[in-house]
Amino acid sequence: MNTHQKMLEVANQALRQAVEQLRFDPHKPALHAHAPANWLNDPNGLVYFNGEYHLFYQHNPFAPEHWGSGRIHWGHMKSKDLVHWEHLPIALAPSEDYDRDGCFSGGAAVQDGKLYLFYTSNIFTVPPGLPDDLLQQQCVAVSEDGIHFEKSELNPLIKHPPAGIGQDNHFRDPNVFFHDGTWYMLVGNRLGDNGKILLYRSDDLLRWEYVKVFGESSGDMGYMWECPDFFSLNGKDVLAFSPQGIGWPDQPNISGYYLGRLDYETLNFSHGEFYKLDHGFDFYAPQSFTDGKGRRILFGWMRMPRNAEKQWAGSMTLPRELRVTGNRLTIHPVEELTLLRQQQITVSDVRLRQDNRTTYPGIKGTCIELLCTFDLTNTDAAEFGLELRSSLDGDQKTVVTYSKEHNTITLDRNQSGDYVSGTRVLEMQRRAEKLELHIFLDTCMMEMFINYGEYVMSGWLFPDPGNEEIAFFSRGGSTTIKSVDCWGLKL
Ligand code: FRU
Repeated sequence: MNTHQKMLEVANQALRQAVEQLRFDPHKPALHAHAPANWLNDPNGLVYFNGEYHLFYQHNPFAPEHWGSGRIHWGHMKSKDLVHWEHLPIALAPSEDYDRDGCFSGGAAVQDGKLYLFYTSNIFTVPPGLPDDLLQQQCVAVSEDGIHFEKSELNPLIKHPPAGIGQDNHFRDPNVFFHDGTWYMLVGNRLGDNGKILLYRSDDLLRWEYVKVFGESSGDMGYMWECPDFFSLNGKDVLAFSPQGIGWPDQPNISGYYLGRLDYETLNFSHGEFYKLDHGFDFYAPQSFTDGKGRRILFGWMRMPRNAEKQWAGSMTLPRELRVTGNRLTIHPVEELTLLRQQQITVSDVRLRQDNRTTYPGIKGTCIELLCTFDLTNTDAAEFGLELRSSLDGDQKTVVTYSKEHNTITLDRNQSGDYVSGTRVLEMQRRAEKLELHIFLDTCMMEMFINYGEYVMSGWLFPDPGNEEIAFFSRGGSTTIKSVDCWGLKL
């Protein structure tokens, strides 16, 4: 057994113990992919390999928290359909001098039937705990069976960003893609308060040559760019990334994308403006991949509020399919999620009268899918919306409000239960004749796809387990509901 295999044994053993000690927790997600126990953050190494979906993730098998020396491993699960996941042994453990304090985020590549995992090796250069005293380098581990990974003797493959271009204490999250016989790697980086992404090139996935700065903040787009994710879709090129310091006061780090065109002659990426990938709470560090059907599928990390961490912490989002529509991405729940549907209840063509709050028999639950279409041409209400996971007395609820005047959607979780609070207001750019809200609820999470994937708003909610009412309301006029479909969801 080499050192890596020994460290994996220790980690897998700790995780097995943590799973045995798990107490029932009504808030643990029932439908979302998450770690068997303890800590999870970013999705890593997403890949469709030998006919199966592999989802790796940042994982601390020892505790429901992130920081600490040698804690961050790569957890691993796989699936045939993106919704039923099988946990596999931990794939990467800190085991060498160069990665002794963590195997940080990265991506996958497949060459000659082998699966390559690129990751950032993390070292604290002084005693642990001071996040800025890091040395971060780019490494690889290779597998033939997609389960057991061997770290390359050539590690670290990339030791430093070029002097004067980037800092080597914040140099992470390699993302590898292939074009016309050449491999490319993007790495997140910063110089002072200027976030950037560096581009490297290779013929063999092992020897990497620095090419150029692929993108950078230039002062107004954040001090550090994490988790680059580059791909082509429908003739467009997309750079998704997670800039730090430009989000909301309660969540300064956000995730979004530029859509544009990469000129492979000059390696210039020209693009339009930055769009957020999620307008709700907690979503961060997404990664995407192309599957066997040519779909681009994205998972994000749902970061749990600190004080909500229990014997587990963090979850993936549901799998989301990305499509290009004009100069934007639209984001859709993958069709396999329909496999989870149980009984269906439908209500159609109802009119909610002014200042009415209504529930419909059977439309309620903790793990449900709700597809609601409102007819805006037949609605004169100033605002209308839904209360999710409401108590019977309405004291606890998560409120989604559409304002007709402002064409905004507000997600309010000030009464959503423990740990969470705040509102998010989404200003929609286009006025439509219909408003479609496609909502997935899972014990303590919500994801809302708006107007056929134009926007998504997600967040953690921690209502009391028994609070499962769904109420519709209309204020300052009446609202026409075209239809509401509600399915119970079960794995
Ligand atoms: C994003 C991130 C990455 C890093 C990883 C460490 O959430 O900070 O930049 O590699 O998490 O777990």
